[in-house]
Amino acid sequence: MTATPVTARSMGTSLARQDGREKVTGRAAYAVEHGFDDDPTAADPLVAWLVTSTTARGRVERVDAHDALAHAGVLRVLDHTSAPRLARTDDAELAVLQDDVIRFRGQIVALVLAETAEAAREGARLVRVHQAPEAAQVTMADGEAYAPEAVNAGHEPDTDDGDLDAGLARAAVVVDETYSTPHEFNSPMEPHAVTAHYDGERLSLWDSTQAVHGVASTLAPMLGLDVSAIRVRAPYVGGGFGSKGLPHAPEVAAALAAIAVEGRPVQLAVTRQQMFALTGYRTQTTSRLRLGAEPDGTLVAVGHDARSQTSRSKEFVEQTATAARMMYAAPHRRTTHRVVPLDVAVPAWMRAPGEMPGMFAHEVAMDELAVACGVDPVELRVRNEPDVDPETGNPFNNRRLVECLERGAARFGWADRDPAPGTRLVGDWWVGTGVAASTYPALFMPGNAARVRALGEGRYAVAIGAVDIGTGARTVLTQVAADALGVDPAAIELAVADTDLPAATVAGGSAGTSSWGTAIVQSAQRFRADHGRSPDAGAETTATTEGYPDMERWALHSFGACFAEVRVHRHTGELRVPRLLGVYSVGRVINPTTARSQLQGGLVMGLSGALHEDGHRDHRHGHVVTQDLATYHVASHADVGDVEAEWLDEEDPLATPMGSRGIGEIGIVGTAAAIVNAAWHATGRRVRDLPLTADAFL
Ligand code: MOS
Repeated sequence: MTATPVTARSMGTSLARQDGREKVTGRAAYAVEHGFDDDPTAADPLVAWLVTSTTARGRVERVDAHDALAHAGVLRVLDHTSAPRLARTDDAELAVLQDDVIRFRGQIVALVLAETAEAAREGARLVRVHQAPEAAQVTMADGEAYAPEAVNAGHEPDTDDGDLDAGLARAAVVVDETYSTPHEFNSPMEPHAVTAHYDGERLSLWDSTQAVHGVASTLAPMLGLDVSAIRVRAPYVGGGFGSKGLPHAPEVAAALAAIAVEGRPVQLAVTRQQMFALTGYRTQTTSRLRLGAEPDGTLVAVGHDARSQTSRSKEFVEQTATAARMMYAAPHRRTTHRVVPLDVAVPAWMRAPGEMPGMFAHEVAMDELAVACGVDPVELRVRNEPDVDPETGNPFNNRRLVECLERGAARFGWADRDPAPGTRLVGDWWVGTGVAASTYPALFMPGNAARVRALGEGRYAVAIGAVDIGTGARTVLTQVAADALGVDPAAIELAVADTDLPAATVAGGSAGTSSWGTAIVQSAQRFRADHGRSPDAGAETTATTEGYPDMERWALHSFGACFAEVRVHRHTGELRVPRLLGVYSVGRVINPTTARSQLQGGLVMGLSGALHEDGHRDHRHGHVVTQDLATYHVASHADVGDVEAEWLDEEDPLATPMGSRGIGEIGIVGTAAAIVNAAWHATGRRVRDLPLTADAFL
């Protein structure tokens, strides 16, 4: 069954956040705030505290829990000799406390259970872990790179079209530079946290996750439970950015602890410091960009060779070079990914994996090409627009990059720009402006289902296991359901974030609203076909998405243009970003208020990556030493100037029946490049390594 495009009535309006009142009044219970007072089957919760390794590689010889157990309030200490056994241990990240192997510093090696958080924390401090270290490889220089079979999201590691070397040899102008991005860490407001309760048959989790069904389906086979024996709920989640997209070791640890103390719920909050080893991160990347062009800037060759690291225990490869495959027209193109395995924490998703570091490199290289050719950087991008998707040969569904660039240029005041760098001094500040393009695929995840049930008197219950991680999903899905059923949003009772509801995929890949919303639309349309406009109370339809969108026929992507103004202090090198503007083509915007927050949040995270975020790895032990928000800097209010996001007025029925595409990630893409390009324009100094710090300008 395909879907009929939905007429927008509520969509496009700023319906207030459905969970705003609970959140601002403090009544929203996050994962470890779930209470059991009204559950007669559950005893008082215990608090779990993780103990982690301090060596990068080796063995746990012995866990001495004597002093910890002597501490008042401490009940149990679990280690690899005493934790419940898992049915499957093939995932080395998730096989917590199953063997004595230390795979990275910061790995869970014991877990303390106590009556209070204070006792659990003190107990964890008193556990002595005797470790036998072995030689470890923890820096990129230590290891040999290999070509992975695939990179994140299943992309081919390498592509080769035309003849890159011949194209570069013939090109009148060549840019050949290497760019780098550092280790970056997701820093959501709510650290990872889970409450687990095992009653002897069923395991219940209240988890801070982006995917309740994903957690259940991953944990069930590991725990040897039927998936129906695990119920996962995530009513409120304080952000994730990808770090909560897949279950990580702490969730397994909490489940094992709950099984060990059957009957008593267990609350586990990962500390901010522990997040730097246990909940994924963006690896450092280097990108060699080779752009060959005609004198007027028309590209003839694009080469992007990306290099990153992974952990030896579990492979994750940032898909850094994938955007270079579809961004601009060029007859000759080669992209490669190589990866070095290290004895370090397991990397994973961070907002726009691949596109963020890859487009940083590509869009700074484009700025360098514009300078080399003497072509305006907006005009350079316009000249390199492809007719069809260079990667697949398919037509683009809705490629409006040029309009984003032109509208942004007009609004930003680009026309008056003097292209010469280092020529505008205002007081003690060098001032410059820069631009970069943004892109993100319009992903769609199959297998979502939604249930529509008539409640009588024109009201409807709509249910799907989607998770609102603070994005506004509850709100926009209410709008989608209202329009799909042709009723007012006040007539919709939406239930989400529970595995007892129809299956939903992850709040990730900027595909949540697209994928879940399509399931709601298809279910609503099937409901109307089955039950008509005046259904009896109790009439119900559940449908699973199918037949949408047509990925074989169309190249489905979103685009944007980011403009930045940067000021660099001529004596101290201090950088300020007084203005950021992003103009996006993202299909229909379902809710302007929540969408603006998403896009501005992406811009601020891009600013944060441009100026601050920098995970420093200790090259003896392989852990990140900047493991809190005092030393791992993220943008604060004082860093954020005038950040504006706007979008083209459009709808894209090829992407979804709502006419929308995803908006969660595109705001971070290209932003750091626009800032670096503006810093060059301000000072004449070209920085190719993030973050951009004051010392580069002295
Ligand atoms: Mo986002 S990195 O797709 O959760």
